[in-house]
Amino acid sequence: MIVVDHPLVHVHVTIIRDQDTGVDQFRHHLTQLARLLAFPVLQDLACEAVTVSTPMAETTGCRLAYEPILVPVLRAGLGLVDGFRDLIPGSIVSHLGMYRDHRTLKPIRYYSNFPENRQNHPFVLLDPMLATGGSAVDALNFLKEEGARQIRLVSIIAAPEGVRQVETLHPDVPVYTAALDDHLDDRGYIVPGLGDAGDRQFGTL
Ligand code: PRP
Ligand code: URA
Repeated sequence: MIVVDHPLVHVHVTIIRDQDTGVDQFRHHLTQLARLLAFPVLQDLACEAVTVSTPMAETTGCRLAYEPILVPVLRAGLGLVDGFRDLIPGSIVSHLGMYRDHRTLKPIRYYSNFPENRQNHPFVLLDPMLATGGSAVDALNFLKEEGARQIRLVSIIAAPEGVRQVETLHPDVPVYTAALDDHLDDRGYIVPGLGDAGDRQFGTL
């Protein structure tokens, strides 16, 4: 697991944790966090050399060999899309619909949409909350069934239980997070966490 340790990350995490932060501000600061995490998460993207002519001379530069496929887990993962997407020319967004049954805490999959010829692209699974890890593990199983070979998982707040689960069942997948929290409560919520990330983004509290 990589905890992205940067003062600006700490500042934005503090704001979204605050129960008095409203919907608009929550979304804004979540987007800033996505943007900050995109740098370490994407630092090993492969470049293809291209020639470019400046007004002064010809020189070589980089074009992405394979655009990343961003996979937000609905609903909460939507809040991480723009921060990544704004930085990546030609990025692809493949939505994955999944929710956690409130009684069993087991993930229920209800939607997916992936492009053809995806095997060589890096996949970036986006979900701000990694709690029990059930949703992330199920999403990773699914991405691998769909042919993904290179996946990274991006969360904002992670619980030790969820990190352990993902690292045990998907040791090949690097897990990035902005904060590693203390524990889960008996309803599977992360403590201190930020509450329900979907509700806080979409005002459905
Ligand atoms: C949240 C969150 C993760 C999941 C994490 O989604 O966005 O997908 O819970 O919990 P887990 O690690 O225990 O599986 P939720 O089920 O609340 O759906 P929503 O985004 O539609 O509100
Ligand atoms: N999902 C959330 O949105 N928050 C938690 O604390 C746990 C799961």
